[in-house]
Amino acid sequence: MEMQKFKGRKIVLGVCSSIAAYKAADLASALAKAGADVRVIMTENAAKIISERVFATLTRNPVSVNMWEKIGDWKPEHISLAQFAELMIVAPATANAIGNFANGLAPDLLSCTFMATRAKVLVAPAMNDAMYSNFAVQKNIKILRENGVEFVEPEEGALACGDCGKGRLAGVEAILQRAAQLL
Ligand SMILES: Cc1cc2nc3c(=O)[nH]c(=O)nc-3n(C[C@H](O)[C@H](O)[C@H](O)COP(=O)(O)O)c2cc1C
Repeated sequence: MEMQKFKGRKIVLGVCSSIAAYKAADLASALAKAGADVRVIMTENAAKIISERVFATLTRNPVSVNMWEKIGDWKPEHISLAQFAELMIVAPATANAIGNFANGLAPDLLSCTFMATRAKVLVAPAMNDAMYSNFAVQKNIKILRENGVEFVEPEEGALACGDCGKGRLAGVEAILQRAAQLL
């Protein structure tokens, strides 16, 4: 793994409300240790699953959750973050976030940043296997792929919901490998 590729690079990491959100902490930690400047955006639901303090401590940067919070800058945060990013990684990406991205919906900081960035975006979905194979989710993934969004496919295996199938978040190594290729 060419971790030196991340040194000094500006990465926005989007974290959605999947149980796999805890794995994003390992991802954030690996990126930060490799010298990347990592800014984490959590959805409000993700912040109910894992504390924003985990990401703030691991990345040594403030974490953004709510678009309407007071900030120390005049520029809306989704625009600042969108322009900051050399690469945006969304891991884990929920069916909801993928739907927002594919359909031009921008109800929160993560989807607004996705829409406003000109950086490459790497999406790592995680969800129940039936959700992942649902026609609407697959249609949304197809739309995103056709428009240049990159994906790291979920793995097959035991899922947190008790089912077994394709939907488990790709391993941190696989996400890092794809991210390094994109930088
Ligand atoms: C415990 C729990 C785990 C969930 N895991 C997932 C998941 O892995 N993938 C997914 O697409 N949705 C999952 N959901 C549903 C999403 O949290 C829900 O669709 C939410 O509205 C998505 O919000 P967000 O995309 O803003 O994070 C889960 C919900 C709960 C309560």
